[in-house]
Parts: sequence; C-alpha cells; structure tokens
Amino acid sequence: MLLRTLSNLDDLDYYGKKVLMRVDFNVTIGKDNEIGEDYRIRMTIPSIEYLTKRGAKLILMSHLGRPKKTAEMEYKQTNKIQQYATSGIDINAIKQFSLLPVAKRLSELIQMYNVSFIDDCIGPKVQKEIDKMDRGDILLLENLRFHSGEELNDYNFSKELASLADIYVNDAFSVSHRKHASIYGGARLFDKKLAGLNLKKELEYLSMVKDDPVKPFILVVGGSKIKDKIGALENLLPKIDKLLVGGAMAYTFLNANGVRTGDSPIDYDHFQWIKNALSKYPDKIVLPIDHIVTSQSFLKFKQEESNEKKEEGKEGNYNYTFDSLPSSVFSPSLVSSPSSSVSLKKGAIEEGLLGVDIGIETVQQYSSIISQNSNGLVVWIGPMGVFEIGLFRNGTNNIAKSMALAFWRGSKTIIGGGDTLDALKKAEVSELEVTHVSTGGGATLKFLAGDEMPGIEVLNKIH
Ligand code: 3PG
Ligand code: MG
Repeated sequence: MLLRTLSNLDDLDYYGKKVLMRVDFNVTIGKDNEIGEDYRIRMTIPSIEYLTKRGAKLILMSHLGRPKKTAEMEYKQTNKIQQYATSGIDINAIKQFSLLPVAKRLSELIQMYNVSFIDDCIGPKVQKEIDKMDRGDILLLENLRFHSGEELNDYNFSKELASLADIYVNDAFSVSHRKHASIYGGARLFDKKLAGLNLKKELEYLSMVKDDPVKPFILVVGGSKIKDKIGALENLLPKIDKLLVGGAMAYTFLNANGVRTGDSPIDYDHFQWIKNALSKYPDKIVLPIDHIVTSQSFLKFKQEESNEKKEEGKEGNYNYTFDSLPSSVFSPSLVSSPSSSVSLKKGAIEEGLLGVDIGIETVQQYSSIISQNSNGLVVWIGPMGVFEIGLFRNGTNNIAKSMALAFWRGSKTIIGGGDTLDALKKAEVSELEVTHVSTGGGATLKFLAGDEMPGIEVLNKIH
C-alpha cells in the first residue's frame, strides 16, 4: 500500500498550521511518577522535530494504560460497584494514568522546544490552550482513554478531536491495530492525513519480514501467549528457514510432539494447530532439547521475591553464563524442601516440575543457529523463559547476545514486543545492536499475521 507520509506535503504547508499527531506514549510509569523504558517516546522525536522545524503547532495525543478496565476492576474489588453504576468512573481513581510525567520526560528529551501539557484532550479549555500556541510549540493532551468515546470510536468524540487541527499524523504503529477515535474515526475526518516517520519505518521493516524476507530467515519465538502469535506463525512459517521455539509456549509444542512436560502449562486450545504445524514443517521447527526446571512453589516464591525487590528498585540478577550454571541450585531459605531446587533436565520433564528456561545445550544450539546467520534475517519475539527472575534468564540473555552477534556479522535483526526490548536491556545489549526494534507488541503480531490495521488503512481513505 502506498502511504502518504510527512514529505508528501510541502514544507510550507506546515508553516503556522495545527498538526494533531497520534503517538503511543503508553509507557510504564512507576509509583514515584518515574518513567521506565522511554523507547516509545524517543521514537517519535524525528516526526516531532520534522514538524516543529517547519513551523507547525504540534498537538500530541496518546493513551496510557487501560484506565477504564483498571477502574472497573478496582470498583469490583472494593464492592463499590453500585457507586460505579450510578456515577461512572471517579477521575481521582485513575490519576495514575495521567500523561503529565510523559510531558516532563518529553521536554527533557527535546530541550529546544516548548512542551506544555493540558489536563484534557477535548473541549473549550483545550481549544483555548491551542489558540495560545506559537509556531514550533508542542502541546501534549491528557490521556485519550479518560473519555469513553476514544475506545468506542464514537463519532462525536472523533469530531471533537478533528476540530483541534488542520492536519492529522499517525506516528503510533503500536496502536494502529485498534479502531479507536484517535486512530480511526477522528483521522477519517481530516483531508490531510499522513503517516509519521516512525510509522513509516516500522512498516518498511515489518513489510519486508511479512512479504519479502531476506534469506535465510530465522524466527525465534517465545513467551507464553500462543493465541496472539498463531496468526503470525501461520503466515510466516512457509517463508521461514528455521523456527526456534522457547519460553512457556515451547512446552505445548513439546507436549504435542509426544514429550512429557511435567507440570508445565499446556495450551490445549491450540494443540491441534501445533500438531499440524509440526507434521507439516518437521525440519523447520526446532524445539528445546533441555530445560531449566523447578517446582510451582519455588517459582511462586521467586516471583514474589522478585516483585518485592522491584518495589525497592532493585532486582535479583544471578548473571549465570551458560558455562557456569550449576546443575542444581537451592534457595537458602527453602533448602529444607528438595522440591524448591532448580535443575537442568534433558528430554522429558517429570511430574511436579515445570520448565522455566531453555537448557544449556539448547542455548548453545539456538545461539549458533542465530549468530551464524551472517547475511540473512533474524526476527525475535518473546523471551525464552521466566526472564524477570535472574535465575531463569540465562536462555533469554544468550539469545539477546547472539542476536547482537548476528547483527555485527551483517544480518538484519528485528525484535518485537515490549517484553523482548526489556529482555535486551537486561542482557545489556544495546538497541543500537539491532537493526530494528519494533514499538509494537500486539500490533506487530497482527501486522505480521496480515490482519487489518485500521490506523494505517484510514490514511488512504477519502471521507
Ligand atoms: C501496547 O502497549 O501494545 C499499545 O500501546 C496498545 O495498548 P492497548 O493494548 O491497551 O490497546
Ligand atoms: Mg498491549
């Protein structure tokens, strides 16, 4: 699809014009309002600077989190459901979803421009603020999802958004699979609607993966949710040379292949699909041959411990390399219970144990397949194990390092999904050692599956 992008308008077309740009500033914000990974914010800088340098008045809009769902859950938990039903959502209950901290980070990042923030996204107050803007100014609007019209793609809300500006830009690939007002309904009402530079870049790389992958093409897939990945796998399997499977989903693949997987959770909803894929592509799909295993109770204990540490701002990291991982590790506090051990298992996993990371031989095998791909394409989506816990991070760390090696040797490497970027950071691999890091999680998978992307299709619609 031929997309109209920022350079399709003359520079002068932006001068003094109000440009409404949808960005995805859905980042993690901690208790003290500090921003976690700001990759999504940084990726919008090229479009922001392109427009402000040309004298546009730039209005940025984004969502943050899922305030409505979170508030509903809280109301249910605190039995205030009656109150919720009569008075709707209490805005104070959702303050944690304010974009104000993001405005602060953005102004730190682009010091040359004046960034302001307004605590709503539509209405007279917002209009007034926009009227005060000068050429080159930037205004970030409050979380779009504080209005229910956003997710409902409501026509009136869309009209209110569209009344704010002359030109519409979508620079939020990672929400382009959502048919929301700021992405679809509102965008539709503009004559001039364009793709931003980050959206353009995402589409260039991901279209290459989807339609015309450089060969040899290796796909590394992990994480737990098979459901979200099946469309992409279905579409890509015919074009892939090797599919390396890790993470929780590997145990469903192994189980479907007749291997005993102990207490590892199995996704029976997708069992048949996996069986078919395994019999259709027996030489392409590579499964782990050994595993780091532990008991449910020890995993739970480590998860709780890691959550506590995160709250204190420090995270457990055992930093095992694959030659130093001992065959059995005991937690000092649980030493009396032998089921608390972590061990390395080859082949079948017995009852009472579950796989939490790929094992050492698998790491060696996967790492060499990835890093020896010196002129092809490696795409990585999803961690190899429970990587939030240092003890179960060895596989993921080594995949990240092998990805970097493949990149340095000349391969195109692409990673997708929020978790994978986090994993890369934990392995101390820089995002500059990857050809492209996609800002999208769900959007990337939907795009690779060939699903409809309303936020992209709308850019070519004449209303
Ligand atoms: C994401 O984090 O994947 C995007 O920001 C979309 O968020 P959503 O899944 O809440 O629509
Ligand atoms: Mg998401």
